[in-house]
Formats: sequence, structure tokens, C-alpha cells
Amino acid sequence: MVRLFVNKYPQYNIYNVDKLTYAGNLANLKDIEDKPNYHFIKADICDFPLMLDIMQRDNIDGIIHLAAESHVDRSIKDPFTFAQTNVMGTLSLLQAAKAYWESLPEKFEGKRFYHISTDEVYGALEVPHPEGIKPPFTTKASSGEHHLAYGEKFFTEDLKYQPHSPYSAAKASSDHFVRAFHDTFGMPTIVTNCSNNYGPYQFPEKLIPLFINNIRHRKPLPVYGKGENVRDWLYVEDHARAIDLIFHQGKVAETYNIGGFNEWKNIDIIKVVINTVDRLLGRPEGADMDLITYVTDRAGHDMRYAIDSSKLQRELGWEPSLQFEEGIEKTVRWYLDNQEWMDNITSGDYVKYYEDMYKNR
Ligand code: DAU
Repeated sequence: MVRLFVNKYPQYNIYNVDKLTYAGNLANLKDIEDKPNYHFIKADICDFPLMLDIMQRDNIDGIIHLAAESHVDRSIKDPFTFAQTNVMGTLSLLQAAKAYWESLPEKFEGKRFYHISTDEVYGALEVPHPEGIKPPFTTKASSGEHHLAYGEKFFTEDLKYQPHSPYSAAKASSDHFVRAFHDTFGMPTIVTNCSNNYGPYQFPEKLIPLFINNIRHRKPLPVYGKGENVRDWLYVEDHARAIDLIFHQGKVAETYNIGGFNEWKNIDIIKVVINTVDRLLGRPEGADMDLITYVTDRAGHDMRYAIDSSKLQRELGWEPSLQFEEGIEKTVRWYLDNQEWMDNITSGDYVKYYEDMYKNR
């Protein structure tokens, strides 16, 4: 999203505030770091005085808030960090924006606080149709060969929140704070809830980059439970395009769900990833299927996420730009072409953390 905004809007000054915790990586934005409208600030969003200072010093008139602890497995091990960053960090940003904008003559006029959230706040849907049914909606992302839905129910914007993991509970809480700042103070807020993203530069703790790297090195692929959980996958640049559209044209106080109508059972997506990696590495397709290793399920593992993004499509005309088959091919190619990027991450402490996590499972 930062790359998109810096390149597309040379007239905007973009301030990228990041604490650079384990998943932050300056190498991800190397190609824009010298652009005159790009400014990097290493800071913790929980540091309220610093956030206020940045708001005042750089005359910030819009916030797109993506800073969060985001990995469910980590939230099971360490819920405190998730409450701290996701809840207190959001509150600190809200307070800083409020204090600065209220001090201006025009107050909230022309300002925007846009909070990026997750579909996990809605809880989990059942899988009443394990073999899949004809889906009620089609998008570019889902128009490929696979294209099934595993139930008739979808996450719509008016659904009640039912988070199950410490991660989604923390995100749910932050969403409530954002809406409370609109309702109580008139802050011009927007919230979006997005499904699973995939694509380049994703930290290799998430399913797709982790598995691409393991397949390449012929390491086991830890499939949680029976691999039958369903996720709705969206190419990261399509999410960034949605954010751009909503930031500029979305209605204040509204919520928009973002997803590709592109449901996959984990085990099916894993097979596609194995075939793609094998083919691109010149191995016989499917040669690495034996790496699939069923392991103990994730605690509280949500069964199915499926976003209904028809409001966004209807009101703002957004649609995913890529078919899933194209997106996965592009993604696998990117990780295989950027081994150095991957090796820099996996050679460090992260490997130890990751190995410990599985040892203690
Ligand atoms: O739905 C949006 C959410 O998607 C985001 O809000 C989260 O920040 C993001 O982490 C992602 O959550 P998931 O838990 O769905 O993503 P993850 O890549 O961890 O796992 C995807 C599915 O694959 C999930 O059902 C768990 C399973 N899985 C994951 C890993 C890492 C495995 O079977 N084995 C694994 O090693």
C-alpha cells in the first residue's frame, strides 16, 4: 500500500511509521526509499506523545492504520503483545489524531482516519458443504477452475462480532474504539475488514510463503488438523487498490468488507502451491506431495472465512484484478526469484522462534 501511494500520488507526502518488529523489513520498500515524497519513521504507535508530535510536525491530514500484530499462532503464545499493539496502539493513534485535528481551525474537515481490520472479527462460518457448492458470486479472482463455496453464509458488514483468537479479539476491540471515536467525537473514520492476503513480501510465517520456502528446501509442510479449514484469498495488490479507493471515495463512518469470493480448503491450496513450485523449479509436478505432514490443530482454529464484498463492488466499483491461478503463479515466481530476501529472514532468530513454536505445540 505504501508503494502504491508513493508512486501514484507524488503530490502527497507519505510518512511510513513502523516499529520494525520481527516482521518489519526495510528491504521491502527499497525501491521507493529515495523518492522525495516518502518518509520513514521508526516508531511505536503506542508512544502517544511521539504520535502527536509527528501529527503536528508533519501536518498529517489522513491516517491509514495498518500497524498490527497479525499472526494468530503468535497471539495464542503471547496475547499481551496483541492487546498492547492492536488495542492500545490504535487508541494512541486515535487520540493523537483527535488532539491534533481538533486544534486546527477547520477541525475534522478534510481529514480521514482509516482503520484496516480483518474478517476474523466475525468469528467462523461452518462448512456445511465439504465438497463445495456453486457460489452465488463470481469475481475475477474466483473465476478460475476451482471456484466453489463451502456454505451459503458469508461475512457481511452488519454481522455481529464473534472473535475467537486473542488476535481477532484484539482487532475487534480496536475496531470498536475506532467506531466509538466517530460516534463520540465525530472523528471521520472508516473501517475495512479484509480476508487472507497473499503475494510478494509476506513474512514467511503465513501459510503461502512458509510453504513455498519449505517446498523449495524439501522441508515438511505442517498442515494443521485435517487441512479442511477454508480461507478466502485475495492478492495483496488488490487489497492495496481497495484501500486506495476507499480512502479517497469511501463514506465516513462506513464499514466495507474486502475479499475475492475465492474460497479454498487449505489442503487444496497447498496442493496448488506444491504443483506450482515443483513446475517452476523444474521438478515433476506433485513430486513434493509427500512433504505434507498433518500436525496438531491450531487451538480454536476457525473453520471457514468467506467475505461478502458485494457492498464494495456495488458502491465503489472495486473488483479483484487477478484470477487466483495467475496470482499464485506470480507469487510463487516472486519468492523463487527473491531467495536472498527469504534467506535473510529465515537465517536469523526467526528460525529458532519458529522451531520452538512447533516443538511446544
Ligand atoms: O483472514 C484474514 C487473516 O488472515 C488476517 O487477519 C491475519 O492477519 C492473517 O494472518 C491470516 O490469518 P490466518 O490464520 O487465516 O492465516 P495463516 O496464513 O496463519 O493460515 C492460513 C490457514 O492455514 C489457516 O487455516 C491455518 C493454516 N495453516 C497455517 C500455517 C502457518 C496451516 O495449516 N499450517 C501452517 O503452518
